[in-house]
Amino acid sequence: MRANNLLIYNRAMSEFHALVPAAGFGARMGNELPKQYLPLAGQPLIFHALHTLCASAEIATVFVVLAPEDTLFHSYDWSRFGDKLQPLFCGGATRAESVLNGLLASELEPDDWVLVHDAARPCLTQAHLAKLIAELRDDEVGGILAVPVADTLKRADAEGRILHTENREQLWQAQTPQMFRAGLLAQALQQCSSVTDEASAVEALGLRPKLVLSESGNFKVTYPQDLLLAELLLNQQGIRT
Ligand code: CTP
Ligand code: MG
Repeated sequence: MRANNLLIYNRAMSEFHALVPAAGFGARMGNELPKQYLPLAGQPLIFHALHTLCASAEIATVFVVLAPEDTLFHSYDWSRFGDKLQPLFCGGATRAESVLNGLLASELEPDDWVLVHDAARPCLTQAHLAKLIAELRDDEVGGILAVPVADTLKRADAEGRILHTENREQLWQAQTPQMFRAGLLAQALQQCSSVTDEASAVEALGLRPKLVLSESGNFKVTYPQDLLLAELLLNQQGIRT
């Protein structure tokens, strides 16, 4: 009984934090400047996601995980975000490694919620964040923003010819933020590091993260043509100051 009460107390007290992996190079972007620093709507690309996360009253801290050799981050003025923004120069060779290193360096409580968000998704809005947190704050496992697959899906052979058409029913595209308890996520990533998102590591523990319906505007900037679309959306959302 006492143990149960303690558990409930801890859960009620647990905080929300964001962790933004930003230690990649942006190879598919094909630019010398790492993707997270490419100019977008008058700011480095990473600014936009950090701005939205720092502006959320529910989020206590925004950790940004940078490559140990990153010399660009401190060439920008981040003072408007104050102490809420915490850079950690501990990024790894893969996204999963960067997230795990960041989690360990952040020293969060195991019960705290952590929202892992790609630096390369600049069009995240307060509405996306509020929906994710509202739908998951009482969840046992956690979950992710995602959208149902809209296009018809083709399975290719080695020659680039269609082998067959995949059934897209119940198929979703994973986005970020992905929201899990810090302790559970660290355990999951320690046991399973060959993953491209946090949910995959949690799934490998035998758990079933929840899909929270998002929309296509929260897309990841991957190729040069994505920058134009992101700029249009950001301009439509209004200037972030
Ligand atoms: N990331 C990271 N550490 C890595 C690789 C990626 O923190 N070793 C981050 C990226 O900086 C990005 C996010 O993970 O914010 C999503 O990854 P992605 O869009 O694939 O970015 P890159 O890996 O930089 O791009 P690419 O795969 O084209 O090289
Ligand atoms: Mg990558």
